[in-house]
Amino acid sequence: MSKSVLITGSTGAIGEAIAQTFFDEGYSLYLHYNKNEQKAKELELRFDAKILQWDMKDGESIKKALSEISVDVLVNNAAITDDAHIYWLSDEQWERVIDTNLNGTYRVTKAILPQMIKNKSGSIVNVVSVSGIVGNHGQANYSASKGALIAFTKTLCLDLARFNIRANAVAPGLIASEMSQHIDEKSYKSIIPLGRFGKPDEVAKCVFFLADRATYISGEVLNVSGGMIR
Ligand SMILES: NC(=O)c1ccc[n+]([C@@H]2O[C@H](COP(=O)([O-])OP(=O)(O)OC[C@H]3O[C@@H](n4cnc5c(N)ncnc54)[C@H](OP(=O)(O)O)[C@@H]3O)[C@@H](O)[C@H]2O)c1
Repeated sequence: MSKSVLITGSTGAIGEAIAQTFFDEGYSLYLHYNKNEQKAKELELRFDAKILQWDMKDGESIKKALSEISVDVLVNNAAITDDAHIYWLSDEQWERVIDTNLNGTYRVTKAILPQMIKNKSGSIVNVVSVSGIVGNHGQANYSASKGALIAFTKTLCLDLARFNIRANAVAPGLIASEMSQHIDEKSYKSIIPLGRFGKPDEVAKCVFFLADRATYISGEVLNVSGGMIR
């Protein structure tokens, strides 16, 4: 029987690339989306996947959607940005980003864990960001959510090792996608040693490595930043 993976935020650029990689490796896919139903339907057909919808802020929907699902791998990838200088950042912006990225990832992980614990097997990869390691201008909310997810990952490693469940994180730098489309690549070239934005596929391969291949790695954060963070 093929192994299975649940990927949140699969309708985004990086989520889609992660789906493609796991599909190419023979996994069966559970693909989550929020608003982009059209894209989700396209992925459902392309990957013969099961699609699941919820808002990361809605704990009850998450519990309901995941109550009967059993997977080998969970990739927590869904996230948002809502940037502003800390002086102008509103409480609403702070709360929405923390609730979606941090609390949402907690909710999904909690909902999927009982079956992994029962199976005494599982692997979790959290897609975080270099902003969560070194911070970033105008991203107090996003950086805080991703930094907290790194601490969350390290704690999952400790709490879950006894159940043969690993937890790791991938920290992308600047990746060509909708989330980064407002950033001018040329102005960043000088601070990225490899001199270019990464591709979603280059993140996806690292997620797959940690999720499936790195059987003696847990609690790690793998930077995928073209050498920007060392
Ligand atoms: N792109 C970069 O440069 C970069 C850099 C570092 C880290 N990352 C991280 O990589 C991951 C993927 O990024 P991306 O660039 O692929 O993002 P993206 O293209 O903006 O996609 C975001 C995904 O999250 C889902 N989502 C958004 N709000 C949601 C909500 N309230 N509830 C449930 N799902 C929600 C979206 O679903 P719908 O579209 O269906 O609504 C979509 O599938 C994120 O964790 C991001 O923080 C990205």
